[in-house]
Amino acid sequence: MRKTIIAGNWKMNKLISEAKVLVQELKELVSGITEIEIVVCPVYTSLYVVSQEIKGSNIKLGAQDCFWEESGAYTGEVSPVMLKDVGVEFVVLGHSERRQYFCETDEWVNKKTKKAIEIGLRPIVCVGEKLEEREAGKTFSIIEKQLEGGLGNLSPEEIKKVVIAYEPVWAIGTGKTATPEQAQEVHKFIRNWLSEKFGDEIAEGITIQYGGSVKPGNAKDLLSQKDIDGALVGGASLKAQDFAQIIKAGL
Ligand code: PGA
Repeated sequence: MRKTIIAGNWKMNKLISEAKVLVQELKELVSGITEIEIVVCPVYTSLYVVSQEIKGSNIKLGAQDCFWEESGAYTGEVSPVMLKDVGVEFVVLGHSERRQYFCETDEWVNKKTKKAIEIGLRPIVCVGEKLEEREAGKTFSIIEKQLEGGLGNLSPEEIKKVVIAYEPVWAIGTGKTATPEQAQEVHKFIRNWLSEKFGDEIAEGITIQYGGSVKPGNAKDLLSQKDIDGALVGGASLKAQDFAQIIKAGL
């Protein structure tokens, strides 16, 4: 069966020294937990120091984005080969903040996802509707469009490597969480899409995380839903205590 994956998306936060302290604290708090895959996604500048700190621990390293070429004249970009070189295993792709502020498209998400898998990384591909889309009754059509555009042409072998994160845009960083029922409804929709596209067996094996104001107080209710297999945590992952509590809520 699928494994619960709880990932901390640190976004554009923490200097190198702060990242080091945060991961040291976390390491202590979650030592011995093997039932859950624990991932932290620092900014690029802290990847190396965090990779050194987590050596031999149960914490894995993730990045927040990558490009689809391996090297070359792409000023400002970081390639999946470079991420792998520093010890990264997971990479968040198509986060709504990247879609909103950096014009990330489903086509780009698709190219990045395919390349990341080819290089041996596990992409965490984010999908989610905006508030006005939810209010207009378009949630499922938006999610389907993002899934089709980002993942529709993957092979069965490729999709098995993917983690999907459902993150309603209106719940990110706002303190407004989707209710467990609202989240479960969309997770079920995503699982059905996967079944139709890749078959039941593959769909049952894919981890679908929920993200958007996950906190120690709501994590258990969310994670106990049938199709919620983990969490992508922003704000609360910046405090070791809070993130550790969220991880323990998944046990
Ligand atoms: P949040 O962010 O937990 O701060 O809402 C989640 C995310 O953007 O991944």
